[in-house]
Amino acid sequence: MSGSPTPRLIFGGDYNPEQWDASLWPQDVRLMGEAGITTVTVGVFAWAALQPQPGRYDFAWLDTALDLLHAGGIRACLATATASPPAWLVQAHPDMLPVAPDGRRLGPGSRQHYCPSHPAYRTAARALTQQIAHRYGQHPAVELWHVNNEYGCHVQQCYCEVSAAAFRQWTQERYGDLESLNRAWTTTFWGQHLSDWEQIQPPRTAPTTLNPALVLDYRRFSSDALLECFLAEAAILREVSPGIPVTTNFVGLVEALDQHTWARHQDVVSLDSYPDPLDAEAAARQALTFDLTRSLGGGKPWLLMEQAPSAVNWRPVNAPKPEGVMRLWSHQALARGADGVMFFQFRQSIGGAEKWHSALVPHAGTSSRAWQDTVRLGADLGRLAEVAGSTLTADIALVLDWNNWWALGLDARPSSEIDLPERLLDLYRPLWEANLAVDVVGPGTDLSPYRMVIAPHLYLIDEGHVTELHRYVEDGGHLVMTYFSGLVDPHDRVRPGAYPGAFRDLLGLQVEEFWPLSSGAEVALEGQDGRVGTAGVWSEEITSRGAKTLVTFAEGPLAGKPAVLRHTHGTGTVTYLGCSPDPQTLRPLLAEAAQTAGVHPALTDVPEGVEVTARTDQQGQVLFLLNHNDHAVPVPVPASRVVLGDEPDAGILTLAAHDVAVLRPVATR
Ligand code: GLA
Repeated sequence: MSGSPTPRLIFGGDYNPEQWDASLWPQDVRLMGEAGITTVTVGVFAWAALQPQPGRYDFAWLDTALDLLHAGGIRACLATATASPPAWLVQAHPDMLPVAPDGRRLGPGSRQHYCPSHPAYRTAARALTQQIAHRYGQHPAVELWHVNNEYGCHVQQCYCEVSAAAFRQWTQERYGDLESLNRAWTTTFWGQHLSDWEQIQPPRTAPTTLNPALVLDYRRFSSDALLECFLAEAAILREVSPGIPVTTNFVGLVEALDQHTWARHQDVVSLDSYPDPLDAEAAARQALTFDLTRSLGGGKPWLLMEQAPSAVNWRPVNAPKPEGVMRLWSHQALARGADGVMFFQFRQSIGGAEKWHSALVPHAGTSSRAWQDTVRLGADLGRLAEVAGSTLTADIALVLDWNNWWALGLDARPSSEIDLPERLLDLYRPLWEANLAVDVVGPGTDLSPYRMVIAPHLYLIDEGHVTELHRYVEDGGHLVMTYFSGLVDPHDRVRPGAYPGAFRDLLGLQVEEFWPLSSGAEVALEGQDGRVGTAGVWSEEITSRGAKTLVTFAEGPLAGKPAVLRHTHGTGTVTYLGCSPDPQTLRPLLAEAAQTAGVHPALTDVPEGVEVTARTDQQGQVLFLLNHNDHAVPVPVPASRVVLGDEPDAGILTLAAHDVAVLRPVATR
């Protein structure tokens, strides 16, 4: 980040001095120093404190807080504070409150209660950002700008009249003339022809299934409307304080924002990550999100802006992180390319909606295990300063396109069980278990550097992306594609001819009919090598047109018919999954594909449950070893300089339960 004289990793969290008596602030800054905290996020929800009345600003308290932080050697990730509009603004403009699809206006009293298209909100947010930027743009404590907070997290779409008007404008810009829009939206169906732009309405609650192209465009419009809010604030910050990077915190795999589009406007990509400690898949899920975040920034170091030190308070049941897991999961972010680890929040609230959410300084204060964990992690990050700026290169690309995700979520499709994050995880998990590095890439990414590309459920795809995938395989790439791909154009109109329209030739097959499985149902599979397994979610009747069958359905209406096939196209190969195979079936399939593609893990002979990644810099490789097991394991390691952790003994490093090691392999003869 900006202005840091020596390489260091960022460590810290949200700090809300306005919620505490000022007499506590010096003690807070002292504690931050004790824990090795470098940076705190200040002011995220401070709009009402910074602007108590229209036109009246009160910066005195923030002046004091930032000066104190600066004097204590702590930098600030300074928020624009626009995520929670003050009560006076809502009172003056009650119609700036967002509206749900059924026409219900949401109330104030929590946060994110604004319509992103409302001029009163936008004007007031810009004015506040101007004030903050001018006052603090040159403040020595400011390291990073934090625009708003988790855009689209609570309110993904607003359906009010102001949004409706903005949507009409958006459609005019996109389609130019009404007949183009009518064609794109297939309005001949169910007599939905539009003869006046004013007839366009948001996809509000309707008697039955809404026009899918309308729903899809409303998703696009809503992501763009929020992006306009971000860009308006970012432009002010960039103009007033060039050189201080600008970010907003993404929330990982959520539908609201087309993060590939948004990421182009971030100086550093940042993420909030809250895996559920009770979820057996939490570490794999989080690894996938971390890989997405790194890839959004084109591989540059990213920032874990928020995570919970232990329990959150917003699930029905909020389990704490078991001993060592906060540290382990923090290192997982570094292992997957982050240059900083931050938390929500520094000091645990005593009132308000998040008083039962864990914090770095818990209610018990410093006489707590939680505080010791904070101090320990701070020391770790201090020791790892040398890895700042190093990057991670992946040989595998997993394709994720938000437009496609939105389309997969439309009503009235063959199956509503194609839950994209879950299906991505199915495919990602075996790669993560095998310690194969993966980038999560969007359409338009140059695929040529990747040895293997996995394209799950690319149901909606534009012509350019179709061409990219064809070219990738023709030029010798190894593609894994799954069912329900290549079927519709960007307006959810079916591609002509037999399924899968865009990829029939590439895959060397034709899909005759879909046979989606009921929720939880399974169908037996049999491999050509005699292996047996099962598949869930989906099956389909496939006729090969040149592809070789690897696995067949072994029961039911499709018994004996192909379930998984491989085809050679140009100088490359495509493996096609016509079902969601169980992990036992999928693991060898992907392992074999990876091996053929020449993809190798960062380290071999690693015991199960140990995650290994490699970051590289000018000095060479940095290996991160993370033991997700709740027992100790021996790991054979190369001759190395230990950056963090115990020394190996005769080439074996014993990693305690949930422990972490960071090594720099050294050249040996
Ligand atoms: C989000 C928000 C924070 C806080 C945490 C609690 O990430 O950005 O303000 O509410 O959730 O988990």
